[in-house]
Order: sequence, then structure tokens, then C-alpha cells
Amino acid sequence: MKVLIIGRGGREHALCWKVKQSPLVSEVFAAPGNDGMEDVAARVPIQESEQETLVQFALENEIALTIIGPEAPLLEGLADRFRQAGLTVFGPNRAAAEIEGSKAFAKDLMRKHGIPTAEYAVFEDYEEARTYLQEKGAPIVVKADGPASGKGVIVAQTIAEAEAALREMLLEHRFGEASAKVVLEEFMEGEELSLMALVHGEKVIPLEPAQDHKRAYDGDRGPNTGGMGAYSPVPHIPITIIEQAVETILKPCARALVQEGRPFTGVLYAGLMITKDGPKVVEFNARFGDPETQVVLPRMESDLVEVILRVLDEQRPTINWTEEAVVGVVAAAEGYPGKSETGAVIQGLDELSPAVLVFHAGTAKNQQGQFVTTGGRAFLLASRGTTIQTAKDAAYGCLERVRCPGIYYRTDIGYRALKNRFVP
Ligand SMILES: Nc1ncnc2c1ncn2[C@@H]1O[C@H](COP(=O)(O)OP(=O)(O)O)[C@@H](O)[C@H]1O
Ligand SMILES: [Mg+2]
Repeated sequence: MKVLIIGRGGREHALCWKVKQSPLVSEVFAAPGNDGMEDVAARVPIQESEQETLVQFALENEIALTIIGPEAPLLEGLADRFRQAGLTVFGPNRAAAEIEGSKAFAKDLMRKHGIPTAEYAVFEDYEEARTYLQEKGAPIVVKADGPASGKGVIVAQTIAEAEAALREMLLEHRFGEASAKVVLEEFMEGEELSLMALVHGEKVIPLEPAQDHKRAYDGDRGPNTGGMGAYSPVPHIPITIIEQAVETILKPCARALVQEGRPFTGVLYAGLMITKDGPKVVEFNARFGDPETQVVLPRMESDLVEVILRVLDEQRPTINWTEEAVVGVVAAAEGYPGKSETGAVIQGLDELSPAVLVFHAGTAKNQQGQFVTTGGRAFLLASRGTTIQTAKDAAYGCLERVRCPGIYYRTDIGYRALKNRFVP
């Protein structure tokens, strides 16, 4: 069968790489993909937003399964269009993707269905929001309701900071329609964890957990980014906590969406805070996490395509996982997450051991066939190991051999697992 992956980042490279290994699959297409994926997928020059052209391509090429990577096309209703055309697609319809598209919707759903999350209120009026803020005090979290490319959340340490965020969002319309509404949310203390599941209606098949590193610099300092690295498993968080999160968060959320007439098909991603009162939801996403997917899929021994087809076919597949750890480090272009440099030549990738995984995001090939940076996160390099420590050492050993002017990466990916005693 032929499989189509929609998107162009590291997550989609990892999906292509994993799908390509399936004995069921004859050909993998990536639309639009990136130059770094060409060893595992055929590129299709159609943008994620070109719904009719994508549907046409899938029909003409008899694509048996389409996986939609990013949230934007899901929120634009791409999965709806594929289903209307009778195509098999793994990704939620517009109405179900609202769990990611509107934080106010997600919070109201959680409140109504008793899913543990931070206390909150939703505002469209600046003065009302200010009154609530005075009442609650700081620290407090201010969130734009809609998609804001990872820039719509302010964890405010003071009332003044929160007020400034409210002003920007509600009065100055910093994110346009996306900040016409804001969520003011209780600050939760604890450790963050990413837990994804394959979902079809009420059926929930959890994947292995991962932890990502959102801040740009070592020690979780500096500006927020799309993610500077990730690792899986997360050995210092007890398995009972993960099971509790599946039972109290993922399963009830899938059930709630069915009850609301918005059944979900695809990857439901729970961003969790492990608080002293147990796991609580920070946010839901409606697709594979990036970079988490790039360290979780390499641990999956089962055939992803077979697993997805079984999920869609009213079966309940079990997934086999390696005990091995995977640590993935993002190399980003100079300046990221601000305006970043482009055009720097990346050398040494082809000299790495074939056991090392390199998933491309912000790279392209120049006329000499060399990889160059195109801005933002360039690639993620992932290594395996029997422990987080050995996987981490292997990843950094390889990164030291990659040469690229101006590129930077964090040197401490996985440190949270290593502070704690790890029993393999
Ligand atoms: N209630 C909260 N308490 C503490 N930290 C939070 C809270 N909500 C969000 N954060 C922090 O802000 C980050 C981004 O928030 P999130 O809701 O995941 O938004 P997005 O990923 O859409 O930017 C989280 O990963 C977390 O570190
Ligand atoms: Mg998030």
C-alpha cells in the first residue's frame, strides 16, 4: 500500500522513516516534505493548505493511508475533506481538533467531564479579566485561546506581568482572532510529561511517555521554543502515574469528545503536569508531538502502519516497545527562536554511524548537494542506549562531529531523568 504523510518537519521525517519500515508499505509520499526526507519518502510539491490538490493526489495515486502531521491543516478541516472523498486518514476532523484549536473549549470540556486540570476562567473583556487577576494574584498563567505558534502562553510571576499579557492579547490583539479570548489559569507546580495515544472514538492505545525541553538554553533557561530535545522513556516518573493519566485523562477525554458529538481519530497528545495531587492537564494537542515523536517512534518495535490500521478497524492492537532509551537533541540555527540565520553548510552528517538517527526540519540541499540551514530548528539527532545516560552520551558524541557555523544545541537533554536515580 501507499502512504502519504502531510507536513515538512522533523516529526514528519520520523513518521516517514517509521512508515517506510512497514512490510505493508510499497511507497511513502511526503507533501511537501523536506530535502532531508528523500531517503525515505518521495516528495510531492503540494502545500499542507492545498486541500483539493492533496485530495486529488491521494485519489489518483490510490493512497491507502494518510497521516496528517501538523495542527494547522487539521484545524482547517483537511481530515474532513479526505473523509468526504472516501479516503482513509489518521487525524481528527475539524470539530475534534478543537481540543487543540481552542484552549477555552478544551478547559470547558475538562471541567464538564471531570478531567483533572488547573482551575481557570475565560475572558473576552479586559476589565473583567483584571478583576479576576486581582482576586487570584500571581503566579498565574495567561493563555491566548487560539493557535499562536507556541507564543501565546505567559507564565506570569507578578500581577503586572499578567496584566501586560492581558493588555497585549485583549486590547492590542497581538494574536488577532486567536487572542480575542484568553484563559487565566492557576499556576501548577510539578514535572511536565508528554503522553500520546492513538485514539479512535472511545478506543485509546497509549504510546510510551516522553519529556521534551522547551527552553532554548541549558538548565531550562531562556526563551520558549518549539522544543530543543526530548527523551523516552521517562524512568523517574513511576509507571503508576502514567497509568493514572491514561485512566483519568486520556480515556475520559476520548469518551467526552464522543459524547459531545466530536469523535476523535488520530493522536491525542496530553501535555501533563505531574503535581503532588497527581497528573493534571496543561494542554491537549490533536496530533503527534514534535520533538517527542522523534524519540518515541524509534522505540516502537511494532509496525506503526499495521497498528494504525487495526486502531481504525475496531481492533485493539498491542504495541511492543524496546526497553532501550532514546535521547534526541535539536540543533538550531543561530538566533533561534528569534530571527535565525540561514544558509550555513552542515557537514559531517554522512559520516555518522547508521545507528544514529537524524531527522531533518529546517534544512535544504544546496546546488552542491550539501545540507544547509533554512532557519529555526535544523535537525534532531537521536541515539539509542541501554540507559538515558548512555543514549545521551552517544548523541552528544555524534553532535560534536557535526560541523556547522553558528548552529547551537542544549548540552543537557535528559538531565531530569539523570538527577534521579535510574534503575534500568
Ligand atoms: N497552568 C500552568 N502551570 C504552570 N505552567 C504552565 C501552565 N500552563 C502552561 N504552562 C507552561 O507553559 C508551557 C506552554 O503552555 P501550553 O498550554 O502547553 O501552550 P502551547 O504549547 O500551546 O504554547 C507549558 O509547557 C508549561 O511549561
Ligand atoms: Mg504545549
